[in-house]
Amino acid sequence: MKNFKMLINAGDKLGHINREIYGHFSEHLGRCIYQGIYVGEDSPIPNIHGLRKDVIEAFKQIKMPVLRWPGGCFADEYHWKDGIGEKSTRKRMVNTNWGGVVEDNSFGTHEFMELCELVGCEPYISGNLGSGTVQELAEWIEYMTFDGISPMAELRRKNGREKPWKLKYLGIGNENWGCGGNMRRGYYLDEYRRYQSFCKNYSGNKLFKVACGPGGDGEDWFKWTEELMKNLDTNQCNAISLHAYNVPNWEHKGSATDFTEEEYLTVLHLANYMDDRITHHTEVMNRYDPQNKIGLIVDEWGNWFEVEPGTNPGFLYQQNTMRDAVVAALMLNIFNRHSRRVIMANIAQVVNVLQAVILTEGEKLVKTPTFHVFDMYKEHQEGDCVYCWSENENIAENLKKNVPMLSSSASVKDGVMTVTLANCSITEDAEVCCDVCGFEAKSVEAVILTGEVHEFNSFDEPEKLAVKPYSAELKDGRLTVKLPACSVVTVTLK
Ligand code: AHR
Repeated sequence: MKNFKMLINAGDKLGHINREIYGHFSEHLGRCIYQGIYVGEDSPIPNIHGLRKDVIEAFKQIKMPVLRWPGGCFADEYHWKDGIGEKSTRKRMVNTNWGGVVEDNSFGTHEFMELCELVGCEPYISGNLGSGTVQELAEWIEYMTFDGISPMAELRRKNGREKPWKLKYLGIGNENWGCGGNMRRGYYLDEYRRYQSFCKNYSGNKLFKVACGPGGDGEDWFKWTEELMKNLDTNQCNAISLHAYNVPNWEHKGSATDFTEEEYLTVLHLANYMDDRITHHTEVMNRYDPQNKIGLIVDEWGNWFEVEPGTNPGFLYQQNTMRDAVVAALMLNIFNRHSRRVIMANIAQVVNVLQAVILTEGEKLVKTPTFHVFDMYKEHQEGDCVYCWSENENIAENLKKNVPMLSSSASVKDGVMTVTLANCSITEDAEVCCDVCGFEAKSVEAVILTGEVHEFNSFDEPEKLAVKPYSAELKDGRLTVKLPACSVVTVTLK
């Protein structure tokens, strides 16, 4: 058992945790949209206009704040007019990015917006800058948000939606340095400036425009961030994106369920590096925007492993173990701590793809360990992130990597303090003894998610890993909590 001293100072606010930090990402990729979210109205699986009821309920449970769609790489090949109107006449196309399968466009703008309304989350539309046109994107916005008389508003009404939707988040291109057009930074910047000029605020709707930011760190990526920050103001851009996956090696990504301790620590090291990556880009952003007017949105993050044996390699379907839970806990703590600059984060992807929170098989649904972490962390949403320090130990020192054994963050909202902790060691228990200053706690409650690191929830055993009530001690303003090896704990102080 390792003992760690910890200090939380509620008087020292680090930032406001936007609920969108707990955001999600969905793409027309594998079984994310089709089968995962949308099964069609004629499906025997209970649905609302084709949208799975069980999935909607699960999204509501974790208070999903925002959902990004339709991609990803798919977004820069997506032509929104193919996905509206009578379903039987919608264009059938090839999904060139993901498995070359037929995309029948039965899930389009109306279906996505209805999903967001049912869940109660903000839609985040990723617009096509790579292979679309300025007119096409401008018309999509008119279609979704204009309340008056116009060709696109009329078309929307003809398709059954009288009132416009509210659309806040608009991404203008996705990974345009890669699958979104292989553009150089100056070229993308100019294209971005041109496209955003025609993305109008209609009928009281106010767009929050997101530019395609870097895909990593290092000199070239800092230059990408700098190019945007130097040449865009808040009338043109409200945030820039950052994409970063934890991929041990692109040639041999490793199994999602069968891994050694060294492989576990390698993934944790990559996850923990998000802290440095954000710090580095924040330093560049601070030079041009010291007042944090332009946000950083990590709109794709998570673990990327080999697909489950026997599944389509283009579908990116992977299982989700306690390793994924620890990674999610660690990364969400990092986003909380950077909440002054990081205003949104979207895990990739929401159902059946990469580090999914939900897996489906026919009518069956599994909530993954990562889902449970989102459930345990949801009370951070809209809280103030407060100073939280702990003693720590690097458990990957012998591999010349950096993995702190303990991960933590704390927030205060409406007189309630939420403290989230992870013990990243898979071999050693820990005990944390924490002084809590600037907050008068009278009661303490805790919940835990723990298991052997390779364990996962399967369709045969969907509740093998679940959140359970736990105990923590509070005495004279001092909190004591034990963290078993490979565990995530939420402590609530009132
Ligand atoms: O999430 C899978 C893919 O990863 C996305 O389509 C793309 O944006 C990224 O490279």
